Amino acid sequence: PRVTRRRALRIGGVGLVAAGAGAAGWWRFGPESVLDARSGAAAVEPPVLRSESGVLAVRLEAARGDRQVAGRSVTALGYNDGLPGPTLRVRPGDTLRIELVNGLDEPTNLHVHGLHVSPEGNGDNVFVAVQPGESFDYEHRLPDDHPPGVFWYHPHHHGNVADQVFGGLYGAIVVEDPETPGAATVEVARERVLVVSDISLDESGALKDPSMPDKMMGREGELVLVNGQVAPVLEARPGERERWRVVNACVSRYLALDLGAQQVDLVARDLGPLEPPAAGGALVLAPGNRADIVLTTVSGTTTVRADPVDRGESEMGGMGGMMGGGASSSSGAVDLLRLEVAGTEVPAGAPLPARRAARDLRGREPARRRELVFQTGMGMGGMSFTFGGQEFDPDRTDQEVEVGAVEDWTIRNDSSMDHPFHLHVWPMQVLDAGEGLVDAPVWRDVVNVPARGAVTVRVAFDQPGRTVYHCHILDHEDDGMMGVVRVG
Ligand code: C2O
Ligand code: CU
Repeated sequence: PRVTRRRALRIGGVGLVAAGAGAAGWWRFGPESVLDARSGAAAVEPPVLRSESGVLAVRLEAARGDRQVAGRSVTALGYNDGLPGPTLRVRPGDTLRIELVNGLDEPTNLHVHGLHVSPEGNGDNVFVAVQPGESFDYEHRLPDDHPPGVFWYHPHHHGNVADQVFGGLYGAIVVEDPETPGAATVEVARERVLVVSDISLDESGALKDPSMPDKMMGREGELVLVNGQVAPVLEARPGERERWRVVNACVSRYLALDLGAQQVDLVARDLGPLEPPAAGGALVLAPGNRADIVLTTVSGTTTVRADPVDRGESEMGGMGGMMGGGASSSSGAVDLLRLEVAGTEVPAGAPLPARRAARDLRGREPARRRELVFQTGMGMGGMSFTFGGQEFDPDRTDQEVEVGAVEDWTIRNDSSMDHPFHLHVWPMQVLDAGEGLVDAPVWRDVVNVPARGAVTVRVAFDQPGRTVYHCHILDHEDDGMMGVVRVG
């Protein structure tokens, strides 16, 4: 589909920041995403489905089929024949209904990663198994004060997660900035949702299975895709402001974003705004993480890259050779996309307004402190991936939390490789990322725990339900590095 409409977006009111009203917190951007028509075939984005009158009802069919990936026809998975699936755009307070149809030949289900919604019943319930040929109706009610940001959806059926995500099952969810009267405004020429994933395909265009050592370390695909394409070309005029919402949908690959000479402001990570916006620099996205950035384009051609990331060593290192091909400990550099900035300069916009995070738990006394330990071990059957030596058991509850409690969780990593910690439903405020106290509210739903390191987060368990936390290297999750938390 060709989109020829191009317009600058005017956001919020008329740029007035009323004292007091600005305190409402979130920073408001455009209500709409605009596809860039000038980029031609290269700059495609998945279809956008948007809520109307507070409801978004969609049907997502997970299936294997012919897809255009990296400019060729391949056989991969995907939702609604797309890879990524459609982008779902909702607002705080909305209801999101998803009819998931399983067109695969194995069970699946659907997790709305990062959304602060109920994990019970037909909510974000990861214990549901949707059998082949069957469907399931999910319903998510977003609270009125739901943090804005870019989230995503993917399968979560234990044992199949890595294969299904690697095969092409993922899509973005955007929770738009709330319409706060008088909120700080900023103009962006366009907004882009960039879903980064990786995949391995053989010459015939079929999905390729990872090797055993690759699965141990966490598989990395041979091709890195942005919206299902290899190094697509994006176009802009110099001085234009763009908002990029980047999702790391890779199963195991860490992305250290490098935007070259482009002028970048990081305005939010997984959820909610950062205060103040951070300057470019090294921006590392662990699997599952997102970044929300505002780019003021600079003339010329820039290759946006993912630089190598050292994520430690698999204890299987020694065994790697024995099993054919050692487990790699770092991703090589890859080109993500090319940004071509040319034409007449667009006059500079006003500086980005200051924003406030809506929540800050630093003043709260935690009711309880817990420690969870990422552990790996060697056994007869190969490596084991656990929390504290215990493999995931859906029938066991590992953490019982009182509803309404604020708790501090320290996640310790006793292994020699990094593991990204993901907690469902309840956002985590990072108190200590392993380098001392964090002096601003930083909210995440995935936080990387470095090899032999520890991270402390504070969580308000304000919503009842039983769900999971796990390593977001999805091969590790499937191997059992997952636990159950019950809040009630
Ligand atoms: Cu993105 Cu439990 O996962
Ligand atoms: Cu892991």
